[in-house]
Amino acid sequence: MTSLPPYWRNAIDGDWVDGGAGRLDVLDPATGEKIAEQALADAADVDRAVAAARRVHLSGALTAMRPIERGRMVQAMGRYLLEHKDEIARILVLEQGKPLWEAVIEVEGAALYFEYYGNQAATVEGRSIPLGAGYYDFTDYEPMGVSAQIIPWNYPVEMTARSLAAALATGNACVIKSPELTPLTNAYFVHAAAAAGFPPGTVNLICGFGHEAGAALAGHAHVNQIVFTGSVQTGIAIASAAARNVVPCVLELGGKSAAIVHEDADLAAFDTDIRWGIFFNAGQVCSAMSRVIVHESRAEELIARAEAIASSLSVGPGIERVEFGATMGAMVSEAQRDRAAAMVTRAEAVGARLITGGRALNRPGAFLQPTVLAGVTPDMEIAREEVFGPVLSVLTFKDEAEAIEIANSTDYGLVGGVFTRDLDRATRAARQIRAGQVFVNEWYAGGVETPFGGVGKSGYGREKGREALWNYVQTKNIAIRMGRG
Ligand code: NAI
Ligand code: MG
Repeated sequence: MTSLPPYWRNAIDGDWVDGGAGRLDVLDPATGEKIAEQALADAADVDRAVAAARRVHLSGALTAMRPIERGRMVQAMGRYLLEHKDEIARILVLEQGKPLWEAVIEVEGAALYFEYYGNQAATVEGRSIPLGAGYYDFTDYEPMGVSAQIIPWNYPVEMTARSLAAALATGNACVIKSPELTPLTNAYFVHAAAAAGFPPGTVNLICGFGHEAGAALAGHAHVNQIVFTGSVQTGIAIASAAARNVVPCVLELGGKSAAIVHEDADLAAFDTDIRWGIFFNAGQVCSAMSRVIVHESRAEELIARAEAIASSLSVGPGIERVEFGATMGAMVSEAQRDRAAAMVTRAEAVGARLITGGRALNRPGAFLQPTVLAGVTPDMEIAREEVFGPVLSVLTFKDEAEAIEIANSTDYGLVGGVFTRDLDRATRAARQIRAGQVFVNEWYAGGVETPFGGVGKSGYGREKGREALWNYVQTKNIAIRMGRG
């Protein structure tokens, strides 16, 4: 790739358009420097994007197709992403801050959603319901219509792929609200949809501020379904707007997920879980392993291992970090970095022990040292609130009941983990941990095939897996009276 285009527009009804709210500077968090300008949508742009999607939906073009054909087009979008993988990954690094090898993983992960849901398109089948000789009854799954997808900045490519692939596979037209901090890479979804042959207006892309374009989209009367990943506060605003229009939403609102590490756990193997669980994407992962609750007899050893992993990571601009492995990039913005660093400082003030890290790097860019805090107790802010940064909190427990109680002591409930060789203990924990997904002996086990979502303040609804298909369809029952025709 040569240099970045200086100005990126929104996509409405197949055209690349300016934004009614002007332009936004897109910064490279590794340098603080401006890399491009992005058109900013206002409410009128949102209105046009929704109208375009609605027109495509009402035209019947997406449902007239045989689902296996539509699925093939969805799969073609994934191949388009792979064909442009290097280009997309480099832009993702520049706008988001992650190392290049992580960006490549993200683009490949995004492509996988299109492969998986493209395959599922032909499997969304209704059923026949017996009502006796006088009737013939069956169900159909119809697309919701216009799907609005409000995307966060931590995985802008993968998060859009996750909702877009399932929505298109089930025949919906979409309006994507890309994140203000990382809007650029989302343009490739519009290119991919066009290359795959979807009619103009099937995939509309608008970047805008949350309070302006985001709020206008969430509250739009012609939106039929909303998918949101982000903060609890914004999730509540979106769900409230959706309720006023009586439309469903899927909310994925992050977490404070805990791994319970028992005295019989394989701590050498757990190194990998620490490496990926809290330092991947500089900890800006909704399902990050942000708490480790370790049996007191193994705490010292685990803390030493966590310290070694944190200190082994080379932290710096992601674009130079091409090799898979022991590197970490910038956080998405200096504001997010400062927020995380301030949480570490407050944790120290209430008695947590800083084992390593905790400070901004002494160089330009939004870098935070990989951080380990020990002596954390369940009442501390650092144990209850999402940091969304490379900050691991280590807590200890004496017995199994206490471990579960601590794991369940936050308002969140996205994922959880248990590390032990004892099958009974693992399965008990799997049942008792209050979360949408429980990992046994490997953090982040699972994939696009496995349903994902939270309980409590982590939100509701499930993405990924077959479950996600049902977000985008509604059941219609057709009841036929026989013998009168
Ligand atoms: P946010 O939840 O405000 O932003 C996420 C998306 O929502 C963006 O596209 C934004 O434009 C949009 N948005 C904001 N206000 C809106 C509104 N009123 N109506 C409709 N859309 C709106 O998150 P923010 O402020 O960027 O980050 C704050 C914290 O949220 C982070 O520190 C982290 O703890 C959490 N977060 C969690 C994520 C996750 O993956 N679960 C992703 C991003 C943030
Ligand atoms: Mg916000």
